[in-house]
Amino acid sequence: MKHYLASFAVGLLLFGAAQPTSAAVLERGPYLQTPTSASMVLKWRTDTPTDSVVNFGDAPTNLTSTVSTPTLTTEHEITVTGLAPDTRYYYSVGSSAETLSGGNSGQFFTTAPVPGTTKPTRVWIIGDSGTANASAAAVRDAYKTSTGSTVTDLWLMLGDNAYPDGIDSQYQAAVFDIYPDLLRKIPLWPTLGNHDGHTADSATQAGPYYDIFTLPTNGEAGGLPSGTEAYFSFDYGNIHFVNLESYETDRSPGGAMMTWLANDLAANDKEWVIAFWHHPPYTKGSHNSDTEGRLIDMRQNALPILESHGVDLVLSGHSHSYERSHLIDGHYGHSSTLTGAMVLDNGGGRETGAGAYDKPVGGTNAGAVYAVAGSSGKVSGGSLDHPAMFASISSLGSMILEVNGNRLDAQFIDESGNVDDNFTIIKGDDTTPPIINKTEADDASSVTVTYSEKVDVTSAQNIANYAIDNGVTISAATLAADERTVTLDTSALTEGVEHTLTVNNVDDIAGNTIAANSQSQFTFVVIQTKDFQDGVAPTTAYAGTRDAY
Ligand SMILES: [Fe+2]
Repeated sequence: MKHYLASFAVGLLLFGAAQPTSAAVLERGPYLQTPTSASMVLKWRTDTPTDSVVNFGDAPTNLTSTVSTPTLTTEHEITVTGLAPDTRYYYSVGSSAETLSGGNSGQFFTTAPVPGTTKPTRVWIIGDSGTANASAAAVRDAYKTSTGSTVTDLWLMLGDNAYPDGIDSQYQAAVFDIYPDLLRKIPLWPTLGNHDGHTADSATQAGPYYDIFTLPTNGEAGGLPSGTEAYFSFDYGNIHFVNLESYETDRSPGGAMMTWLANDLAANDKEWVIAFWHHPPYTKGSHNSDTEGRLIDMRQNALPILESHGVDLVLSGHSHSYERSHLIDGHYGHSSTLTGAMVLDNGGGRETGAGAYDKPVGGTNAGAVYAVAGSSGKVSGGSLDHPAMFASISSLGSMILEVNGNRLDAQFIDESGNVDDNFTIIKGDDTTPPIINKTEADDASSVTVTYSEKVDVTSAQNIANYAIDNGVTISAATLAADERTVTLDTSALTEGVEHTLTVNNVDDIAGNTIAANSQSQFTFVVIQTKDFQDGVAPTTAYAGTRDAY
C-alpha cells in the first residue's frame, strides 16, 4: 500500500511538472535467466511499481527493439523471444518513463547456440558462496581477473547461495549486491542448498529462492519437462546440464525426480552430460559422505542412473572445500569400498602430467569426474582424505569450465588467482597433437624427451625426426614402456652448454603430428655427488669437520 501511494504521488508530480522525473530506483538486477537459442528472461526490481520495458539491439547505442508489459510491478520479468542463436544483444531495462540501466558496453546478453551445435563454452561455477563478505568478494575478484575480457557464457551457483536462511534480504546482500555487473551479462543457473531450503518449499515451489529465480519446468531450454523448478535439465550447444534438488525433494529410486532423471537422460543426444546439485556424493570436507543421508541417497540413487547414461562431470557444494575425483565409475558405497577397478584413470587428467582423461563418444559407465566446489564463500576444513579424490584443497575459490567440441577443461582458481587444480576430458577421437613436456640430459651421451601423451612407436623411434644443435648427433631413439618417454643416444655432450632439441613428424597414437619444428632446451650438468658416512673421513678435497654422530 505504501508503495502504491508513493507511486501515485510521483505520478501527480510528473503530470504537474510535465517533465521526466526519476520515478523509480533500481534495487536489484537486471539479471538473466533461462537462456535459450531464441529467448532470454530478464528480471529486475524497483522500489516503486512501474511498467516494464526492455530495449535491445546489436550495439549499446542501437537498442531498436522493445518488449514491454503495462502491468505496474516492482518485480519485473520480461521474456525476450524471437532472437537469433549465439548472438550478443545489448539491452536496457526500465519503464515507459525512464531507462534504469543499460545502453552501455557492459550490459548485454548472448543467446545460446543452436542445440546440438558446437561452440566454445565457458562456465563459471561457485558453491556455498552466500556469505556476502570479503571472502566471497575475493573469490569473485580472482575470477574476474583470471577471465579478463573473455566472455563467460553460463554461471552455475551450487546452493547455499544466501546465508543463513535464503531470505530475500540475504539474497540481496549475497547475490545481487556482490555480483551486480556479472548478473547483467551472464545467465545464472542456481541449485537449491540446505540454507536456501530454510525458507523455500520445493514441493510448492514457493519462497524466496523460487521467487527470485525463473527456471524451466517444461523443457523450455531443452531436456525432458520436469514439471518443477526444483529439478530440470537444459541444453547449451553440445552440453546437456542436469540440475537436481538434493535437500527436500524425494531422492528415492522410484521417486518422481529419479524417474524423471532416467527418462531425461535416455532422451538426451548431446555429447556432454554435466550434472549439479548441492549435497556431494563424495566428500570428506566439512561434511562426510559416509555418514550423511542426503549425500548417501544421491550417491546410491542418482549416480547409477547418471553413470549408465554417460555423465561426464558432477558438481556439488555443501562441504566448504574443493575436492576433485579421479575418473571413476560404479562407486556407490562408503569410501572404504572404493576399489582399483572403480578408478578408471588415476593419473589426474592433466596434459602436463599423465595426460587428459579419455572417454569414448556416447560411452556409458565410461567414468566421470566428481567435484566439490563449496569454498566460494568460506572454508571449513575437514579431513579432506576421500580416496576417490585426486585433489583435496582447503582454499577459497571457484571453478572455470571450458567445453570446446570434444574437449572439456576445468580449473579451480583460488582467491589469489592461482590455478590450484586442473583437468581435461577428451571425448572420442583424439585430435590434439602431442607436445614436448620436457627434455633432460641424463648423462653425457643421452637425452630424455617426454611427450604430453602416448606417441606412435615408429615415428618416435625414427632418429631422422630429431635434431640437436651445436653439432650433437643422435644414434638411437628408444620409446619407453609408458609410450610417452623417448631416450636419445647422443654424441658427447659438453657440460654447461645449452642445447636446443628440434622435433618433427612424431605422431601420437591417433596419428596427430607434433607441430613442425617443436623445440625444447636442455643443458647437460654434471651433478657432483659424494657419500658421507658416519665414521668415515671424506678422502678428497674436503675441508670440513667429520660427522661426530
Ligand atoms: Fe550446504
